[in-house]
Amino acid sequence: GSSQCFPDGFLLGTATASYQVEGGVNETGRTPSIWDDFCLSRENVQCATVADDMLHRYKSDIAMMEAMGLTSFRLSISWSRVMTWNSVLQRMVRNDAGIAFYHDLIDAVVAAKMAPIVTLYHWDLPSVLHTEKRGWLSRDIVPHFKEYANLMFDEFGHKVPYWTTFNEPWSFCVGGYGEGYHAPGLSHSDTASYEAAHHVLLAHAAVVRLFRSRRHQFFPSARIGIVLNSGMAFPLDPTSAADVAAAERKLQFILGWFLSPIVYGDYPAVMKQYAGEHLPVFTPEEKAHLAGTYDVFMLNYYSSELVTDCSSPRSGVACDKLMQGWHRDAAVDSDRFPHGARPASVNTRGESNCAWFNGYPDGYLPLMRWLHAHNTSAPILLTENGWCGNTTIDNADQLWYFQTHLDRVWQGLQEGLPLIGYTAWSFLDNYEWGSFEPRFGLFYVNYSAKTGGKEVFDPLPTELQRIPRPAATWFGQVAQTG
Ligand code: BGC
Repeated sequence: GSSQCFPDGFLLGTATASYQVEGGVNETGRTPSIWDDFCLSRENVQCATVADDMLHRYKSDIAMMEAMGLTSFRLSISWSRVMTWNSVLQRMVRNDAGIAFYHDLIDAVVAAKMAPIVTLYHWDLPSVLHTEKRGWLSRDIVPHFKEYANLMFDEFGHKVPYWTTFNEPWSFCVGGYGEGYHAPGLSHSDTASYEAAHHVLLAHAAVVRLFRSRRHQFFPSARIGIVLNSGMAFPLDPTSAADVAAAERKLQFILGWFLSPIVYGDYPAVMKQYAGEHLPVFTPEEKAHLAGTYDVFMLNYYSSELVTDCSSPRSGVACDKLMQGWHRDAAVDSDRFPHGARPASVNTRGESNCAWFNGYPDGYLPLMRWLHAHNTSAPILLTENGWCGNTTIDNADQLWYFQTHLDRVWQGLQEGLPLIGYTAWSFLDNYEWGSFEPRFGLFYVNYSAKTGGKEVFDPLPTELQRIPRPAATWFGQVAQTG
């Protein structure tokens, strides 16, 4: 609650991502990313050509964060804005106008006394690297990503205290290369998401090593990590050893998939056992290269799940329909959650367009502890957390969600977890990877009727206005009272 104090230096802020908020897809010399292509190619997928127009409105947006008393802002860089394909050289080269935008943006964040937390890759791969080079499906992406990161360190290294290589590799590898509901929309293969993830991990390790070899030149105390995500998984039947094992397996298949390689240098044993030959193999050199490639753990948490073991199904659980992936476990409907913890004033349980979402604050600390157990000396930055499904401005559910989750963060500090910051998802309503709903913003945005169309348009001055929800007001009070 707001009476509790966060320690000095604790980073409190909000998060966004380039394609979700910037708009200006054809400005500053930006060229398409896989999301521009994906949204144009699918009838049901809207584009973010204008989005929140943050490309032009960042100064007033940052002033709003400053007025709230926030001490950090998490943003991502659009690779295809800062670099352009050179077909003679067969690689990406710098684009000065795009780079200038991020200098202005980051300078404004720093001038507002907020720590920029900068993500290199929040899902908007330059199209050309996908069409010409097979993107994350090819290992050849690694040197391209390294060159991009190197340029970003050259430009912004002296301004940025926290870097993230990738945002949620699980989400874009599974969504983009396995299920096909995210760009680039591939769903033809059982193994493509594992291959993409393998190359993402190698690219991550290469960039962390590069960063460590250079940071003394520009910002010795700067830190780097990778943002990983998972819901907390609880056994449907806590007295069943099979369900307990299934819940742990689910965590290993989502969080452990990326966490084990960066901590220990290899995939979790249970993944190798269940996924078998579908999972690529690291060489001994790659294992050594991967192990320890993080200065700080970075975690996104939204929701929790009840999990049952589908090889010994409990009665009433539709395992055939729910069986998910190689781990062969089912996440069970949220109706079965034994919480009932929400106050009477909170009467919705997430709207229909958030089927995956169970707002469950009691999952947050167990997930933090699970992560922490992998390296008790690694600081933890909580990089996303938010309520899925706001459509209204006056949203009590969202307020309840942030209050209860922030309370768990505070409890985590009391029990000694090395938490160094929390950035809420999201600063404002934005492009939710396919459409402008559900909404996650602390600030409501009044979109134009044209928002979500495939055309670029100039928003009227009255459009895209930012209106604080109750949670924004409350979050500002927390920031100001410490
Ligand atoms: C992503 C965000 C997304 C949010 C809500 C996270 O998976 O990092 O880009 O908008 O969750 O779905």
